[in-house]
Amino acid sequence: MSNRFQQTFIDEILSKADIVDTISSRVKLKKAGHEYSGLCPFHSEKTPSFTVSPQKRFYYCFGCGANGNVINFMMQFDHAEFRTVVTQLAQHLGIPCPETQDDQQQYQLNHAAKHLMQKIQRYYQQQLQQNTQALQYLNARGLSDQVIHQYGLGFSPKYQKPLHQILNLGQQDIALLQRTGMIYTDDQGRHNTRFRGRLIFPIRNFQGETVGFGGRQLTEGRGPKYLNSPETELFKKSFELYGLYEAKQMKKKLERLIVVEGYMDVISLAQHGVYNAVATLGTAINAQHIRNLARQAQHIAFCFDGDAAGQRAAWRAFTQSLPIMHDGLHLSFVFLPQNEDPDSFIQKQGKSKFAEYFKQAKPATEFFFEHIFKNHRTDTLSGRAAAAQEALELIQTIPNGIFKHLMQQQLEITLSLGKDTLAQLNPAPPSRTPRLRIDHDHLSQVISMLLQCPSIYDAFTVSNLLKEQTDTKIQWLLTLQHTIQDHPMISTAGLLQRWEKHEAYPWLVKLAMQPHLLSETAFAVECNHRLETLKDQLIQEKINVILSEAKLRGLSTQEKQALNMLIKLKVKRKQHSQSI
Ligand code: UTP
Ligand code: MN
Repeated sequence: MSNRFQQTFIDEILSKADIVDTISSRVKLKKAGHEYSGLCPFHSEKTPSFTVSPQKRFYYCFGCGANGNVINFMMQFDHAEFRTVVTQLAQHLGIPCPETQDDQQQYQLNHAAKHLMQKIQRYYQQQLQQNTQALQYLNARGLSDQVIHQYGLGFSPKYQKPLHQILNLGQQDIALLQRTGMIYTDDQGRHNTRFRGRLIFPIRNFQGETVGFGGRQLTEGRGPKYLNSPETELFKKSFELYGLYEAKQMKKKLERLIVVEGYMDVISLAQHGVYNAVATLGTAINAQHIRNLARQAQHIAFCFDGDAAGQRAAWRAFTQSLPIMHDGLHLSFVFLPQNEDPDSFIQKQGKSKFAEYFKQAKPATEFFFEHIFKNHRTDTLSGRAAAAQEALELIQTIPNGIFKHLMQQQLEITLSLGKDTLAQLNPAPPSRTPRLRIDHDHLSQVISMLLQCPSIYDAFTVSNLLKEQTDTKIQWLLTLQHTIQDHPMISTAGLLQRWEKHEAYPWLVKLAMQPHLLSETAFAVECNHRLETLKDQLIQEKINVILSEAKLRGLSTQEKQALNMLIKLKVKRKQHSQSI
């Protein structure tokens, strides 16, 4: 996934590629003002909320929040890798691909490794057909030939010989086998085959390439029940989800995804006609997994065991999801009866009872408040305060939007707290020197306009006043300005692309999409005006801070000088603005 191309090359692609042309060859678009709109290809809808902006070189869906530049679009729509898309676009545009020798080599090695994994998977699949015991095992677990084939299940025999000898591979392939974790070297330098005598579950990435394997014992014995491929260049466990590729194969547009614990749960559900289950791979679910899920479906249902461990895992999944809770994403939590997993449950009860049970799924809000109340006594004032404190800290991590608002409202109602009490409880930084308050509305608007119309940069200068602020959003503004300064021709998409992996990305995208209805000249004037107001506010705030200190103690000479300077600056700015 990593961007190994040079930034200038990516910039060139983003500014030259015709995003409307690319998207309209895949999605029906209609011109609407400066932009184009159509039905979103990433979620089902009846009225168009998917917009493509040729100026910004960016697309955005107001329904599901899908967004990105032309590269992101092709990756998502065509299920293609970053490198493939970039190469394709470069070829189309006639731009030569600059790559370092080293990148090229890594790429080729990974490519060869995937090829080898495919070969090994086929070998395991053939071996399964020749192993009666393994076939009987799968049969006994209720799996049909069709599902076995769909998930590419196989068997790794228990030979004494290592894998490369069995497969008749050359010397150079041993390094590749090590790269994929299929063989490992022991203390004595011997090559050992990782999977021996196990039922094999191929782990495919989103493009359907096999990047790792899971292996289950047929009978209980030495070693773990399940053995998984190690983390490698190809297989990133905090990213991949077992079953997502297969689910996508069954249905292009998934409305809902069910997250379960194990390989067998995913497959057994599929066997009973529930094709939309995925599992994490022996790791706890993290924000990256959830982001991947949220890109594919609007509703994510987490399915956990009914025991205490299940509750803990659910709480973890919930808190991991909060920072990416965009409006329109629904989370729910299902707890299975004691001693059941999705596999055993659906085998006993069938698909319709399973679906029936899922109707009891707890929506995220309900799960959240239940959990908070379980942990605190809400019949006492101090207990309620502690509950509110815990809840607020978590709510703070949710991006601004309707969901956050509802959560805050619900908290007020459930704990019968007034808004003022909540405001007091809001965790404030415990620093001794009072922090300057920044008007975030002005700041957001400045950033929004700068993103949408980078060419206005010339129109305003940044003063030292802003440079010395530690506020993160001001820092982001300064970073944006630096980028534009260095690349005066940059597009909205080009700016955003640099922030793709940054926590600020969703916020910046929203600002980039916010309607302003201003001409370019008006943009510059408005932006400048807001920036100046922001500076005025900063000066006033600084004055206030020093004055409030003065009430508590005498000021140092340095502080007095600073105060003097600030007041002079304020007066000068006022005179200047009046003279314009
Ligand atoms: P479980 O032990 O709950 O297995 O592990 P299961 O899914 O019910 O499997 P069956 O029904 O016994 O075949 C759940 C998941 O935890 C990981 C695997 O990903 C497994 O699917 N796991 C479990 C391991 O990685 N190693 C183990 O030794 C056990
Ligand atoms: Mn099980």
